[in-house]
Amino acid sequence: MSKKYDVVVIGAGPAGYVAAIRCAQLGLSVVCVDEWHNRAGESSLGGTCLNVGCIPSKALLESSHLYALSQKQFEDHGITAAESGIDVPAMMARKDRVVNELTQGIKALFKANKVKFVHGHARLAQGKKVEVHERGGKKIIDTLEAKNIILASGSSSVHLDQAPLDHQYIVDSTGALEFDAVPERLGIIGAGAIGLELGSVWSRLGSEVVLIEAMDEFLSIVDQQISRAAFHSYKKQGLDIRINARLLSATAKNNEVQVTYEDNRGAQQVTFDRLIVAVGRKPNSDTMFGDEIELEFDERACIHVNKHCETSVPGIYAIGDIVRGPMLAHKGSEEGVMVAERIAGQDSSVNYDHIPSVIYSHPEIAWVGKTEQDCEAEAIPVNIGVFPMSASGRARAMGDSEGMVKIIAHKETDRVLGVHIFAAQASEMIAQAVTAMAMQASAEDIALTVFAHPTLSESLHEAALAVGRRAIHIKNG
Ligand code: FAD
Ligand code: NAI
Repeated sequence: MSKKYDVVVIGAGPAGYVAAIRCAQLGLSVVCVDEWHNRAGESSLGGTCLNVGCIPSKALLESSHLYALSQKQFEDHGITAAESGIDVPAMMARKDRVVNELTQGIKALFKANKVKFVHGHARLAQGKKVEVHERGGKKIIDTLEAKNIILASGSSSVHLDQAPLDHQYIVDSTGALEFDAVPERLGIIGAGAIGLELGSVWSRLGSEVVLIEAMDEFLSIVDQQISRAAFHSYKKQGLDIRINARLLSATAKNNEVQVTYEDNRGAQQVTFDRLIVAVGRKPNSDTMFGDEIELEFDERACIHVNKHCETSVPGIYAIGDIVRGPMLAHKGSEEGVMVAERIAGQDSSVNYDHIPSVIYSHPEIAWVGKTEQDCEAEAIPVNIGVFPMSASGRARAMGDSEGMVKIIAHKETDRVLGVHIFAAQASEMIAQAVTAMAMQASAEDIALTVFAHPTLSESLHEAALAVGRRAIHIKNG
């Protein structure tokens, strides 16, 4: 006999687990089903983000950044330390500990909030029923029934026929978080978020990194002034980014990977010790149900939803990476909160205009709102203020003064339309811009705000002043 709940959530990634906790907080009976398992075959909550995404990548970015500092900056600070080395297994073990602590933390949060958890593969059946199958098998271990179902099954790496994964020499992002030694020559297909972050990790640890990118424009969704600055900075760091390069083939043979690609000069061949394929992610929208469930899909195979994440079937919602919009953890979590609150009768919504994005390279790239090229394309008249980090006292004291803060404001209303940062700790600074924009701030509002000195955030203040040509610490153009 099936067990009845107010809500069944499928998937315990940042979209699903947040939705489940919020449902429970609102007094709804809720069960969350997730099939993720760790190496020991045990459940491991948190989905892609905690297990093989945001968290392990940031753990390795931090370790590799510290190593790079020890190599390149200690001397400048007058620090002499014993010669530093790299212990990749120890670095990986630390990353695994961080992941384990956080995934266990979600388990504890489920318990504290009385969210029931079932480990297994969920399949949607007719009549708002969910069958839970044992992992890797057909046996049904549970049948759940609910008034509302939230689909949050996430996404997986896109694979390329030209570069089939062998999970040893040719890997996706998950494999690239598990290397047991620093590859001497590392190739990466795709110079997007994953390529740049994991490329940074291994380059800092000593790999020669080549990124092969199909588009003729580097980071086309980023403000072009910022992406140009980032391109030059990455190049200086040793990341060899080859744009307009179409992959023809990648083959692992004799402990190496032979890659051929075509660019403006014709066919090129290059050999690596490891190759990472990082060409985007696709929604996991095809393993949860059969044809009998009549959900609509969009052209990217995402489950079609409206702005409230309602699917075409009443009572079934979809959130996170399986629906339109950026594939970002915080976007999925906010959708989870919205859907839980709407099920509980509240009139919640997500502010899709102000979702921040970050690329955790060094310096970091962070942005929210419209780029300068968006404004040009939409013929929006703007005033722009740019403040270089080289004029920030704090950045100078840190020895980390590369980059800039750029604010784009409407020419007539002065309302902030976009903020773009390429700087150390840009991921932290962008939150202030998001808050300001969510409050519909003008550049003048930020200019009139007092910022502590000396902080990197003062650069946001100065960029707002620069919108009105009255920045203090640079010559105004
Ligand atoms: P997921 O996290 O993918 O979770 C879905 C869960 O559903 C999984 O546990 C899966 O096992 C389970 N599931 C699927 N189907 C079923 C089924 N039928 N039955 C039971 N369970 C099922 N985003 C950021 O915002 N910041 C970052 O810094 C960042 N870094 C990233 C780094 C990497 C290397 C990668 C790969 C991704 C990164 N992302 C980052 C993206 C982020 O991980 C995703 O946007 C986020 O995890 C999506 O959340 P989700 O809950 O929709 O799906
Ligand atoms: P991406 O979409 O960011 O970048 C993929 C890149 O590969 C693009 O530049 C694309 O032009 C290129 N590409 C596609 N096909 C190609 C081919 N055949 N040959 C060469 N280049 C090709 O996707 P990525 O890096 O795989 O990341 C997936 C998603 O995960 C991101 O879009 C983002 O949503 C999320 N993510 C977020 C992070 C963050 O927030 N810091 C970090 C990592 C991932």
